[in-house]
Amino acid sequence: MLRIGMLTSGGDCQALNAAMRGVYKTIIKNTTEPVEFYGFEDGYKGLIYSKFHILKPEEFYNILTVGGTILGTSRVPFKTIREPDERGTDKVEAMKQTYHKLQLDCLVMLGGNGSTKTANLLSKEGLNVITLPKTIDNDLWGTDMTFGFQSAVDIATRCIDEIHTTASSHGRVFIVEIMGHKVGWLPLNAGIAGGADIILLPEIPYDIEKVAQTIEERDKEGRRFSIIAVAEGAISKEDAKLSKKEYKKKLAESEYPSVSYEVAAKLEKLTGKEVRVTVPGHTQRGGTPCPYDRVFASRLGSEAGRLILKKEFGFMVGYRNREMVKVPLEEVAGKLKTIDPDARIIKEARLLGISFGD
Ligand code: F6P
Repeated sequence: MLRIGMLTSGGDCQALNAAMRGVYKTIIKNTTEPVEFYGFEDGYKGLIYSKFHILKPEEFYNILTVGGTILGTSRVPFKTIREPDERGTDKVEAMKQTYHKLQLDCLVMLGGNGSTKTANLLSKEGLNVITLPKTIDNDLWGTDMTFGFQSAVDIATRCIDEIHTTASSHGRVFIVEIMGHKVGWLPLNAGIAGGADIILLPEIPYDIEKVAQTIEERDKEGRRFSIIAVAEGAISKEDAKLSKKEYKKKLAESEYPSVSYEVAAKLEKLTGKEVRVTVPGHTQRGGTPCPYDRVFASRLGSEAGRLILKKEFGFMVGYRNREMVKVPLEEVAGKLKTIDPDARIIKEARLLGISFGD
């Protein structure tokens, strides 16, 4: 009997179900051994508190196109994983106990950065772990792409597309705030795809005067409106000089609900133009996975299934140079894939006339 545990951890994204279905199908179609799949509920919490159920085959039917996760998810921050919970439970020991009690052969974890750190820790503690790279942020180190990203790019791009007509009618400046606190792959790609004039990213601190200048130049060229794609984590040159602690304090005390509103207020003052902010927020993580993500997540799931059948554990299944690859968890854990400000995509965007406000 093969016993496989599965959990989805951290912020959800599109194609989590497609990926789990990929693992399930690959395993059941390619072994004669009886198999049981254990679904842990709400991420690592299910493993810690032994909340699980044996997944029935029907639970994997018709989920390829369904967003969210059939298992539920939650955030259990890695930085607190070694701290006992409010009842004094040692979370790591509890997870190991659940795993051994169920006599699992392996645990498949679908998660992003923090979740992969926990997976690496469990692997070091002797559990057989395979992870799949999920996140709309595309910021997992060791893979060119994460699933969920392309679906989110589609949604954020549609938001920018739709803002264009109203921005043009009113001759306004529009800010579209796009998810990405630490890393700007999503705002960068949606910004280019949606024809944004200015893109502000966490990796390239902006100068508000330069942003205003770009808007004024467009005005002189007779362009009545400007669209700015602002990452949630966009940061000004001044703020980038602050320590992490100082910047956190500044944000906590800020009168604005997010960076975009501060940028908007400053631009209204500097340009005298009307500035509006649109925040698609969690819609970017919602709904049906796009066809690319369905294919990609199915392929990742299939590769994970193949590794499980070969009894190869301790890896994240990734995608590099158009090939599926297995990346040791210890190489992935704790590293972010940020945008290099000198990357070709940034240079190409600049050649297209896009300003990064720097
Ligand atoms: O999962 C990634 C992400 O969507 C980020 O892009 C975003 O900054 C964050 O999660 C939002 O987190 P929460 O869902 O906890 O508000």
